[in-house]
Amino acid sequence: HRTAAIIPAAGRGLRLGPGAPKALRTLSGTPMLVHAVRAMDRARAVSLIVVVAPPDGADEVRHLLDEHTSLAPGGELPATDVLVVPGGETRQDSVRLGLAALPDDVDAVLVHDAARPLVPVDTVDAVAAAVREGAPAVVPALPVPDTVKEVEPRTDGGPEPVTGTPERSRLRAVQTPQGFALKVLAAAHEQVAREGDGVTDDAGMVERLGIEVVVVPGHEEAFKVTRPLDLVLAEAVIARRRA
Ligand code: CTP
Ligand code: MG
Repeated sequence: HRTAAIIPAAGRGLRLGPGAPKALRTLSGTPMLVHAVRAMDRARAVSLIVVVAPPDGADEVRHLLDEHTSLAPGGELPATDVLVVPGGETRQDSVRLGLAALPDDVDAVLVHDAARPLVPVDTVDAVAAAVREGAPAVVPALPVPDTVKEVEPRTDGGPEPVTGTPERSRLRAVQTPQGFALKVLAAAHEQVAREGDGVTDDAGMVERLGIEVVVVPGHEEAFKVTRPLDLVLAEAVIARRRA
């Protein structure tokens, strides 16, 4: 029985603006991906990490990880094995390629965005523990601070009509790592490969199979680096940790 972490890191980071692929941009001098690998490595349960690199950047990512892990604070190499595989066009494709690289003895998997480099180890451990205790699918999530409206989307810039207001107290914003029994996530990926897209997280695919997904508490510091302002917040979190 073994738990692996898949880190999809093959995205381009278009919303962050021009520059290197998002996972390779630095926070406090260290690539976001390296922060994310360290976060998974610190988790007790994780004994293998599969990094899904930009399709044309697997060699570069391999070198980068070798360089940074040997230069890590304390100089220690990760206790975990780290595989690097090339990713795909969409996040779903990338996760599927990561799943395909897992050895046979893996029976539980955490899927963690490279774009959430600062997730605390306690959050990772809580997700892994819930899976090991038998939950087929587990997502960390937080209550939503804003009231959320559903609209009829328009692309012409005109005002969008509101079609509904879900009750805020029932909403949760989900983060990663999301944890799964490997069989469950593998089945979900096969199913959705047949059905097409419209799903923005791994747990959403599992829900489509009619399998229960449960929520554990997420963490503020597990936010996703998406837009330029998120880089400012991430640097501030790192500075606060060092203070
Ligand atoms: N991702 C991936 N393969 C893709 C697209 C995304 O592995 N084809 C990964 C990203 O690298 C990121 C995670 O999925 O770690 C979450 O995606 P997102 O935050 O949307 O990152 P990007 O797709 O890189 O950013 P953007 O959508 O702004 O281009
Ligand atoms: Mg994206």
